[in-house]
Amino acid sequence: MDAEGLTEIRAGHVVAFANQKGGVGKTTTAVNLGACLAELGRRVLLVDLDPQGNASTGVGVDRATVKIGTYEVLAGSNTGDAIVGTPAAGLDVLPSTLDLAGAEIELTSAFAREGKLRAALAAVRGRYDFVLVDSPPSLGLLTVNALTAADAVCVPIQCEYYALEGLGQLLRTIELVRESLNPQLALGGVALTMFDARTKLAEQVAAEVRLHFGGAVFESVIPRSVRLSEAPGFGKPVILYDGASRGAQAYRALAREALGRWEPRPAEPRPAEPQPAEPQPAAEPPENAVASVACGAAPGTRESPAPGEGSVPDTEGEQEWAK
Ligand SMILES: Nc1ncnc2c1ncn2[C@@H]1O[C@H](COP(=O)(O)OP(=O)(O)OP(=O)(O)O)[C@@H](O)[C@H]1O
Ligand SMILES: [Mg+2]
Repeated sequence: MDAEGLTEIRAGHVVAFANQKGGVGKTTTAVNLGACLAELGRRVLLVDLDPQGNASTGVGVDRATVKIGTYEVLAGSNTGDAIVGTPAAGLDVLPSTLDLAGAEIELTSAFAREGKLRAALAAVRGRYDFVLVDSPPSLGLLTVNALTAADAVCVPIQCEYYALEGLGQLLRTIELVRESLNPQLALGGVALTMFDARTKLAEQVAAEVRLHFGGAVFESVIPRSVRLSEAPGFGKPVILYDGASRGAQAYRALAREALGRWEPRPAEPRPAEPQPAEPQPAAEPPENAVASVACGAAPGTRESPAPGEGSVPDTEGEQEWAK
């Protein structure tokens, strides 16, 4: 903000995608939301902070050829040297190499170990509107680095059994990071993924998540879509693989909604500099503390999705499964 607190000049809004539960759609959401934000004209950097490297391969990076990746950058290499382009215009990636698997242990004894990613991104985040960090399925040091570097955390939740399992632990970790490392960290949104409208279970899980997380849950729901699972095999975000598919439409809707939440609007007067977040009681689903966590944008910047931008109707469900 400027001296009068009226103009937001923050660049590179950093969003960490986190959920220690495996296979819930963290990578799929980071990759496809990133591509859709880029399609909307935003400059986006995707950071692969997972040794599995799915975000890297998902945008066409051949990991065998990567010389400098997130591991090297955390160890002090120049961040700019590690960034490469992707098939999606406006979307760059900081890929990971297998070496990142060792970082969790090697960082343990490092000085300021939780702030390595934040420090590494400082030099490049000004080049981007959004920096999206894909985390591994754990609450270890890599995920803590992602949360420490982030302005907001986005939690993908799969609309399946046990969806809420472990979320209390994730929320406690977020709270701990907020208290000790990154007071500005906001809940940027909860994204419902792999929604299968043919099952009652998906409806029930979505309703339960909305009950616990309230307005933090994005209106846009990501349907289960074969196209979304096929696209990474071609090294492309779904909008380049099958731009008309339901998965592509859903991530486009999510991107528009996310912009409404995350993007500062310079023209709007803002209140004074935000104060560090007040200590909040430890949150644990289904406690309502969860729903009261701020949603990632400065006051007054949230908007509801326009009609038709919410959940993507599942009219093509059967056909797409049949493809
Ligand atoms: N909406 C969807 N419809 C169908 N398949 C999906 C969808 N979202 C993700 N998938 C598939 O589900 C699997 C898990 O998704 P993804 O890799 O995004 O989860 P993750 O949370 O990043 O997993 P991990 O915890 O291992 O990093 C992948 O094979 C992905 O292609
Ligand atoms: Mg992943």
